[in-house]
Amino acid sequence: MALKWFYVAIVAVVMLSANYSCIEIVRKRQQPSIQTLALTVKPLNESFSAYVLVFLGPSDTEVEFNGDTLEVTKEDGDKFEALMVNNNDNMDRMITLKSKSKGETSTMYPNFNYNLFTKTSFIENTCYVQIEKDAMTELIKYRATVLSFADKEDLENVSKYFIAYLRDKSGALVQRTTRHPNETENLSYYKYVHFHYSGIKTDRPEYFAILNYPAIEADGITVESFGFVVNVSSYDYYGNDITINRSWYYQIV
Ligand SMILES: *[C@@H]1O[C@H](CO)[C@@H](O)[C@H](O)[C@H]1NC(C)=O
Ligand SMILES: *[C@@H]1O[C@H](CO)[C@@H](O)[C@H](O)[C@H]1NC(C)=O
Ligand SMILES: *[C@@H]1O[C@H](CO)[C@@H](O)[C@H](O)[C@H]1NC(C)=O
Ligand SMILES: *[C@@H]1O[C@H](CO)[C@@H](O)[C@H](O)[C@H]1NC(C)=O
Ligand SMILES: *[C@@H]1O[C@H](CO)[C@@H](O)[C@H](O)[C@H]1NC(C)=O
Ligand SMILES: *[C@@H]1O[C@H](CO)[C@@H](O)[C@H](O)[C@H]1NC(C)=O
Repeated sequence: MALKWFYVAIVAVVMLSANYSCIEIVRKRQQPSIQTLALTVKPLNESFSAYVLVFLGPSDTEVEFNGDTLEVTKEDGDKFEALMVNNNDNMDRMITLKSKSKGETSTMYPNFNYNLFTKTSFIENTCYVQIEKDAMTELIKYRATVLSFADKEDLENVSKYFIAYLRDKSGALVQRTTRHPNETENLSYYKYVHFHYSGIKTDRPEYFAILNYPAIEADGITVESFGFVVNVSSYDYYGNDITINRSWYYQIV
């Protein structure tokens, strides 16, 4: 009998705590599901370059390339190889890898730096992103933490932030991101989404986003897309990298 009441008490405590703590893990702490393993660039002739991209991804990963040709082959397991040809004058040579099932999109803007034949180290692969959602009130709060195993110096050109695309009643699309502490907040969208982070000085910064759904609904705003970005910038046309920038996006809404 006593044992029975013990179980009842346990169930009651579990139910009560489930009611009070509404924190849900939206994304477990893990590396990107889409991971670039190697990018090779070689000249074909004076004006064309070939790129070979080897990457891991879920089986539904789609590849897009804004260049001349693209051929994708699926290798063993979750390994893919994409062969691309591009005219060097093409200023819109973006490679996009996208998995709907994982909600992840990875983009890169390749350069034609023939000095570095193959690049095999991609810092975004070392970033473990966790996202939690707290829906305790009508304001939905998200918290992201990023654990990275890269050197501090290598992280210099990596930025992380929440991003939201809101469409207002007139149909205009507004993009909002975690602002740099030095930037002034545009107050006209402040009441719908609000972002902040614990600062770059801490070792393990936390990123926060608050979506105010009552205000969003009252004013007929649509959240087109909302997610978290890890953005690697290596803006260096002549030097050290095969890509100018790369970006990883995890879609939450
Ligand atoms: C350079 O290579 C591209 C791609 O293979 C080809 O279409 C083009 O005709 C070549 N141009 C010259 C001048 O050989
Ligand atoms: C960061 O980017 C700058 C160019 O914007 C480059 O000079 C520097 O080497 C980069 N730092 C690292 C660690 O890659
Ligand atoms: C931000 O503002 C502080 C104080 O005005 C300044 O020292 C710092 O260099 C600024 N940072 C950037 C990235 O502009
Ligand atoms: C704030 O956002 C509104 C709506 O997009 C825009 O019209 C306005 O120019 C922005 N103000 C500033 C200071 O950026
Ligand atoms: C990516 O980060 C760089 C700085 O590291 C910044 O200049 C660039 O605007 C960012 N790209 C996006 C799409 O936010
Ligand atoms: C990467 O760089 C290209 C060329 O400068 C730019 O068009 C694109 O918006 C950048 N993408 C990101 C994610 O920063």
